[in-house]
Amino acid sequence: MNFRSKLTALNIAALLIMLVILGPVITKISDNYNLSSILNYLQSQGEYATIYVEQYSLNKAKNIFEVPSVIESDSPYLTSYLKKTIKCRIQIFNGNRLLGDSEDVFYESKNIRPEVAESFKGNSAYYINSSNKPRTLYLAMPVNIAGRYNYSLAFIYDLSDADKMRNNNINIFFITSLLAATFTVILSILISNRIIAPIKNLTEITKKFSKGSLIERVTTYNRDDEVGELSKNFNAMADSIENMIYILKDEKDKQKSFFDNFTHEIRTPLTTILGYAELLWKTDNTEVKDKSLFHKTAEGQRLLKMVENLLELSRLKQYDFQVNKAEVNVKTLLEEVCDSMYYKARRYNIRLNLKLEEIHHFLDEDLFKQVVINILDNSIKYSNTDRIDITLKKEDKIELSIKDYGIGIDLDVLKNIFEPYYKGDYSRTSKVEGWGLGLSIAREIVEKHGGKIKIISKNSKGTEVLVVLE
Ligand SMILES: Nc1ncnc2c1ncn2[C@@H]1O[C@H](COP(=O)(O)OP(=O)(O)OP(=O)(O)O)[C@@H](O)[C@H]1O
Ligand SMILES: [Mg+2]
Repeated sequence: MNFRSKLTALNIAALLIMLVILGPVITKISDNYNLSSILNYLQSQGEYATIYVEQYSLNKAKNIFEVPSVIESDSPYLTSYLKKTIKCRIQIFNGNRLLGDSEDVFYESKNIRPEVAESFKGNSAYYINSSNKPRTLYLAMPVNIAGRYNYSLAFIYDLSDADKMRNNNINIFFITSLLAATFTVILSILISNRIIAPIKNLTEITKKFSKGSLIERVTTYNRDDEVGELSKNFNAMADSIENMIYILKDEKDKQKSFFDNFTHEIRTPLTTILGYAELLWKTDNTEVKDKSLFHKTAEGQRLLKMVENLLELSRLKQYDFQVNKAEVNVKTLLEEVCDSMYYKARRYNIRLNLKLEEIHHFLDEDLFKQVVINILDNSIKYSNTDRIDITLKKEDKIELSIKDYGIGIDLDVLKNIFEPYYKGDYSRTSKVEGWGLGLSIAREIVEKHGGKIKIISKNSKGTEVLVVLE
């Protein structure tokens, strides 16, 4: 059973329960009210009629003893006279003997009727015969004349109007029930459609999403109900899944390029070493032997340096790696680094311009020196600049800028520059030594200090590396 049928069945069941209880109760109440109004009317008319019969017989009889004969002879007249005002069949009884009847119908009075019998005890009494169609109301009232003669005035009231009203009520209730049920079905369908449509949309989208179409989103997120809430949550979940998958893919790409670059880097020195080793086997020439040994050692050292750098990077990448911070005079630290790079810069005809504020900060001195060396080394090796400005200042944060005025860095190189083994075209083709690890190491160190490193560069205008510390 789907949701729509369940909702409709539930509503109709609720409606039917209500109608089954309410219908008979309301019909019964209104019928009872009707009957009691008729009875009241009949009783008040009956009272007037008993007085009339009493007065009539006393007036007509010459003396009190003639009353029975007056009643006996005039009962037919009295009943038909009273019928005109009371508008129902009227009978006068003496015991079980019928003295007069307003209706000219054969009446056999073998047994005295219960309400008539009761009236001879001095009480007025009534009962309703529901087996008759229409129902009939029987009322009998005692008539006592001069305290001596007892008669019973009986009224037989046809309840066809009350029956008609009761049937009308039942019909109205039945028609109303039918209309209400139809209305409920239509309303249930409309409401369930409104609820189901977004759920269907949600089901469809989740199906597509689970099959890998990650761009799918639910459109019902702006509804102000539970479905809207669910849609919003689904979209948020879809966003984060899509994002995570994007990150995973990106990581995978990075990993692939890391291995490609690593194997490429390691291959060149190994090929050189193997080449010279082969030469050593073949030659007896001491000069060639010396040269081969020299190159083998140099390449071996280069390999060792690369492995050391890689180990350093992997050590820094461990998330529980702790930096040993101590208060450091950053200005002095920079001056020392520039001193150590002085000769290398001079070889490239580069002037180092220092503009440093006196700043003390908590740093891991050795690691931070390495950051500055790596950045400066790049500017010296690659930029082809004639001067490098090194500026240290503190506004709300500490800012170190190392700026050259050389060739600049291409945008596509800039995007990946912090990835391990990533090198620009120039450094790949030229003879300048480098493994593409310097900036990755620098970024790890700066981030371990809670800082940020950023490179701003423009082709043929130069490059500025900014290190910002909190
Ligand atoms: N100031 C600069 N001007 C021009 N190119 C630069 C500059 N700084 C960095 N680059 C480019 O960025 C690349 C990555 O630099 P990075 O320091 O990470 O590696 P590397 O210098 O090639 O190797 P390593 O630092 O491990 O010896 C360099 O290969 C170079 O092409
Ligand atoms: Mg470098």
